Amino acid sequence: MPISVLIADDSVLPMALEAAWMDELPLARRTQIARWPSARARHRSLIASRLLREGLRQFGHRGAVLSSLHYTAHGRPALDLPVDFSISHCEGRVVCAVSTDGPIGVDVEAIGALTADDFPRYLNDGERAWAGRDPRRFCAVWTRKEAVAKAAGADSLDKLRDIDTRPAGEDAAFAGQLWQTSALDMGSAHVAHLAFRNRCATRVSSAWLELDLCIDRA
Ligand SMILES: CC(C)(COP(=O)(O)OP(=O)(O)OC[C@H]1O[C@@H](n2cnc3c(N)ncnc32)[C@H](O)[C@@H]1OP(=O)(O)O)[C@@H](O)C(=O)NCCC(=O)NCCS
Repeated sequence: MPISVLIADDSVLPMALEAAWMDELPLARRTQIARWPSARARHRSLIASRLLREGLRQFGHRGAVLSSLHYTAHGRPALDLPVDFSISHCEGRVVCAVSTDGPIGVDVEAIGALTADDFPRYLNDGERAWAGRDPRRFCAVWTRKEAVAKAAGADSLDKLRDIDTRPAGEDAAFAGQLWQTSALDMGSAHVAHLAFRNRCATRVSSAWLELDLCIDRA
């Protein structure tokens, strides 16, 4: 199982639990998150950190595993461990993918009213034609692009246009490389994709995690 995907519902955290989960993060990250005015944004990121911790545990990494968590100048998170990982959250869902087999990217979106017409700058002609006015199809294209951007370490949103999701099958092409983009089951109101390099669907294990929101067991 070189790739583990963990999914959780987006929850409001009790204040004591928020504080307890914050304490597991390095000071620089704690300071950064504490400045975010949106409690929901803080909670989603903290839930993602719990999924990350669990994903690392599955690969045998235990203890203070988040102590080396840091972010590159472009916002890509990293750890001083022999894994790659990717995080995404939106209203209703939080997801974290951990890989021991090369770069990984994940993206989840809640299906809303947005369609391909709203993003002419980021979708190419073929993608816009396929997505039409269907919000689910738009989210499918978008999450495939975002997942590849995260996996490939794209340094700006402008790169999304260069990520082409139209090659046959589940692949996407970017900067001369093919990425496999696999759909994740997130329920009927959300769409998510995973992006990774080597082709082998059986390498991915995916599970929902029920987070223990009890403060005394934090
Ligand atoms: C930045 C970006 C990843 C945010 O995506 P989003 O859909 O708004 O939000 P998501 O919830 O899906 O992703 C957020 C998570 O992505 C991760 N992330 C942020 N920047 C990242 C990057 N450059 N590469 C990979 N992962 C990144 C973080 O883990 C973040 O969660 P956290 O702060 O809780 O740890 C997205 O806009 C993107 O792919 N942009 C292209 C790359 C880019 O613009 N980089 C920043 C240039 S300065």
